[in-house]
Amino acid sequence: EEIKIFAPATVANLSCGFDVLGCCLDTIGDQMILRKNNLNKLRILRITGQDLPLESENNVATVAIDAMLKTLGSTQGFDIEIDKNIKAGSGIGSSAASSAGAVFAANMLLGEPFNSKELIVFAMEGERLASGNAHADNVAPALMGGFSLVKSYHPLEVLSLPSPPEIRFVILHPLIELKTKDSRAVIKQQVQLKDAIGQWGNLAAFVSGLYTEDYELIGRSLEDKIIEPMRSVLIPYFEELKNIALENGALGFGISGSGPSVFAMCKGDTATANVKKAMQLFYQDKGIEFD
Ligand code: HSE
Repeated sequence: EEIKIFAPATVANLSCGFDVLGCCLDTIGDQMILRKNNLNKLRILRITGQDLPLESENNVATVAIDAMLKTLGSTQGFDIEIDKNIKAGSGIGSSAASSAGAVFAANMLLGEPFNSKELIVFAMEGERLASGNAHADNVAPALMGGFSLVKSYHPLEVLSLPSPPEIRFVILHPLIELKTKDSRAVIKQQVQLKDAIGQWGNLAAFVSGLYTEDYELIGRSLEDKIIEPMRSVLIPYFEELKNIALENGALGFGISGSGPSVFAMCKGDTATANVKKAMQLFYQDKGIEFD
């Protein structure tokens, strides 16, 4: 018995929700195949597309499954094959896709002892291994689909938010690798009260916009005065790219997760095509490699 799954890429933070807000993408993702084995061992048989560790203690997929099996008190073994389409260190939840995909598929093969929400805490162990921090804003939407909000970490409480039907993303990935660990290291631990006020205003308005399908409000809420100024210096021509996206009709623009990918959120297919073209032309013009 084997299971083959699509493990989606995700956009975390969405400007106004550092470590608490994320969204699942339905067109970019990895493929994973899982089978039970009778060896009581977690084995990664093959990874294509990326050079990632195969040893079970160093791979996020096996570490996440191990956390789940420990809770179950099970020693079931699994064989895993991964076709990575999401580049590691690109900012669209590469480690989250592997962690979330692994626990999702293993849970299915075990007869679903957990629901999707209960799997988040196990997938977070993969994130801890990858970035030194067990954040949930990629694994939660990867497991639950659509938009997710981490209401609290202690205790973990995650909510699913509605997805307005015309929301589209353009993701541009400048071909530099930025590890989440490194781009977390540039963040100061203190926040000014005036910036915090701006941020929670935006986050609440963003959520309201999702419920009321108010696309303009969603766009105006995609603002980050806290993290973005510290991280955007690591991304080539960030401010120029943002202006170009907004001038060409994007609702909002920001860093995808910890970068270096950036996202433009758009309403409908026409605006999306225009924004995509304008962003690509700008980077081509500047000689920046991207995909
Ligand atoms: N919230 C995390 C961060 C997401 O920004 O570091 C990492 O993909």
